[in-house]
Amino acid sequence: MTQYILSLDQGTTSSRAIVFDHAGQIRARAQKEFRQIFPRPGWVEHDASEIWSTQSGVMQEALSSAGIRASDLAAIGITNQRETVVVWDRQSGQPIHHAIVWQDRRTAGLCDQLREAGKESLFHEKTGLILDAYFSGTKIRWILDHVEGARQKAERGELAFGTVDSWLVYKLTGGELHITDASNASRTLLYNIHTGDWDDELLAVLDIPRAMLPEVRASSEVYGHTAPGLLGAQVPIAGIAGDQQAATFGQVCLDVGMAKNTYGTGCFMLLNTGQHAVQSGHRLLTTVGWQLPDGQGGQQTTYALEGGVFVAGAVVQWLRDGLGLIRNSGDVEALAASVPDSGGVVLVPAFVGLGAPYWDPYARGTIVGMTRGTTAAHIARAALESVAFQSAELLEAMQQDTARTGTQVSELRVDGGGSVNDAMMQFQADILGVPVIRPKVTETTALGAAYLAGLAVGFWRDQDELKALWQTGRTFEPTIEVDQREARLHTWKRAVERSRDWDR
Ligand code: G3P
Repeated sequence: MTQYILSLDQGTTSSRAIVFDHAGQIRARAQKEFRQIFPRPGWVEHDASEIWSTQSGVMQEALSSAGIRASDLAAIGITNQRETVVVWDRQSGQPIHHAIVWQDRRTAGLCDQLREAGKESLFHEKTGLILDAYFSGTKIRWILDHVEGARQKAERGELAFGTVDSWLVYKLTGGELHITDASNASRTLLYNIHTGDWDDELLAVLDIPRAMLPEVRASSEVYGHTAPGLLGAQVPIAGIAGDQQAATFGQVCLDVGMAKNTYGTGCFMLLNTGQHAVQSGHRLLTTVGWQLPDGQGGQQTTYALEGGVFVAGAVVQWLRDGLGLIRNSGDVEALAASVPDSGGVVLVPAFVGLGAPYWDPYARGTIVGMTRGTTAAHIARAALESVAFQSAELLEAMQQDTARTGTQVSELRVDGGGSVNDAMMQFQADILGVPVIRPKVTETTALGAAYLAGLAVGFWRDQDELKALWQTGRTFEPTIEVDQREARLHTWKRAVERSRDWDR
């Protein structure tokens, strides 16, 4: 009997695999970090072959630690770091360049040029995105411009572009499929979220041949099977979604007005806006949440408003690897808790610029408010607080946007590695002014991908069944007064101003 779903969660700093049972509980998991390559300031790359080797390694490891075989799996779901660009040669199957990671800022100048040429509103209207180096489009263009012979090969149809989901499906199927799903496509600057197709006008502006793009599929359907010989049995691959959309699905934020915040390498807040692609008045993104069968043979798209904090868990990694203040990431909680507050220190981790609502690729990290009494503990505390402050700015923008439509975001569901930190979640609730709710299973990114795959193969019946599986772990209620909250946010915003437009 096929009793499990295997979820592959390919994140920015690690590849993970989780086996879920029918109750949505974790049966086994495996995780492996991989190399972060920083060739120049502001550039971030991954080796796509390492992405695959770590992902396939943890996939095997999770199965064996669950004590099951591939034939026990009903399906595989995939979720991934979004926007990151892999370009490979269709014939050899080899990447022609390191993957250019979503955090990479090398195309900020190209985005400026496009903005100066008056293209911003064209991209915004069609894709729901901001013209920023974060998204895939200008990164693909960079590869075509800088790898010798790439453009000619791409025009002849010899190269394939994919976000990490496409790359994994390509590898899992032994090179048979070149596909992506609508949620990942919606992060490329090339996909029209209203028509549901790659957009020729945008492709022309960026000079990217359509021949290199994957086929866009729904987020929940049987796309194909793992290659014979890979796992011992051919398993259906049946769900794909970008990690933030998958987390929203895993949190069962399936109704309009429900929002979640995921504390991973970055931190991303998404609000379900249903069948309406709501345009933000505060520089949030409009994105595809997921695309599911509508029950009448077609597909229905659910949209979301999104804001992102580019450096969240990554700031803890930096405390560990860059400053050497802690040995293991988990040590940050105790260090930060060893002082009652940040002692007036504010850290703005704009290491790769700032996302919503600032969209400043030239901002850089800064620490203000230090005195002779400042210690490592104050800096660690300020680092954790920075994630909460940035999230509060996103919620503020969302609340202003939704006030127009009459929906209020009255609570926030949280998940991801950072959400297990109780002190940070309490601070988050205080600074947001709304309850923060953490579910029992905080691996909701992987869970969302499992749900998408499980729905496609009938492992779970429908969305109501999924809603019934969701359980509150702990609720954090706000405890500080409004004026205190506003004062802290005001200080934060002053610090942000100091970080802005630094590296132009
Ligand atoms: O948009 C980038 C996002 O998908 C990365 O997610 O979890 O690797 O920080 P994460």
